[in-house]
Amino acid sequence: MAIEVNELSKNFGDLQAVKEVSFTVEQGEVFSLLGPNGAGKSTTISMLSCLQTPSGGDATIMGHSILNDQQGVKASIGVVPQDIALYEDLSARENLVFWGRMYGLSGDLLRQRVDEVLLLIGLTDRQKERVGKYSGGMKRRVNIGVALLHKPDVIIMDEPTVGIDPQSRRHILDGVKTLNSEGITVLYTTHYMEEAQELSKHIAIMDMGELITVGTHEELVQIVGEQDKIDLVLTEPAEPLLDQWRTIEGVSSVLSENENVFILAGDSNAILPQVFEAANAQGVRITSVEIQEPNLETVFLHLTGRGLRD
Ligand SMILES: Nc1ncnc2c1ncn2[C@@H]1O[C@H](COP(=O)(O)OP(=O)(O)OP(=O)(O)O)[C@@H](O)[C@H]1O
Ligand SMILES: [Mg+2]
Repeated sequence: MAIEVNELSKNFGDLQAVKEVSFTVEQGEVFSLLGPNGAGKSTTISMLSCLQTPSGGDATIMGHSILNDQQGVKASIGVVPQDIALYEDLSARENLVFWGRMYGLSGDLLRQRVDEVLLLIGLTDRQKERVGKYSGGMKRRVNIGVALLHKPDVIIMDEPTVGIDPQSRRHILDGVKTLNSEGITVLYTTHYMEEAQELSKHIAIMDMGELITVGTHEELVQIVGEQDKIDLVLTEPAEPLLDQWRTIEGVSSVLSENENVFILAGDSNAILPQVFEAANAQGVRITSVEIQEPNLETVFLHLTGRGLRD
């Protein structure tokens, strides 16, 4: 196993940010931690990176314990933090050289690694420009490059695609796949289920500090079984209507976030006429209906009663 996490916990005062989380990451896989804001993803990762001391539990990375072999852990991992840390006045190349020296690289080896990393992050042509002039996505790519300089066995990425343009996002996702095809183990955190689905062999879903389930995409979707997810938009939130929908035979749950409503049902086509009938009777307009195959969002809704989205 590349990573073994054993009942890891972190408290901030009364808040249990991470509660006895356990999971294992196989060597050579992409493993995603999927969860909404505040789930405890960054806190978990910062303990695995030896940046925060656990309140309980332990973890090993490539056999090195985060409690008593931090040197071993740090040599094995490259970390891409959620917040970008670069010198804006330096070029991409200069940033990489600076961070490479921090990792103890120098001379020809440093130059060679910087060249390789620039190629991998697709910034060879623009390596001499000041990072301050880069787009958010390009900065993100340099940030990823920094984590790769010392050729770590494991790379840990904390929501690397938040707030960037689609092209940079695509580039990062493809970069993760390339790294993985070269044998690097990736621990990836995200609150985008599409990314977790596209990239990972195993996905752990976290919520409010707890790891609520872990498995392959297929295994997780199996949890909700053969159910459709119906996304509806109403002109106004209407609790009495939702309560009435809950009584329709074949509906297993009805959840709402403001004017968005999600219904889980065995057969969407069988229940939709009654859904509309009840809305009409209560004078609520449905402005949009979408029927979806079960996905990770459905799993999250099913297990937590809430949505994954922002
Ligand atoms: N240094 C800290 N002091 C106090 N509370 C903290 C600290 N760091 C995190 N928390 C709290 O711990 C919980 C988990 O936060 P964390 O940053 O790990 O979540 P996350 O899953 O990374 O969320 P996001 O998607 O927003 O990045 C949150 O309630 C957060 O407010
Ligand atoms: Mg975070």
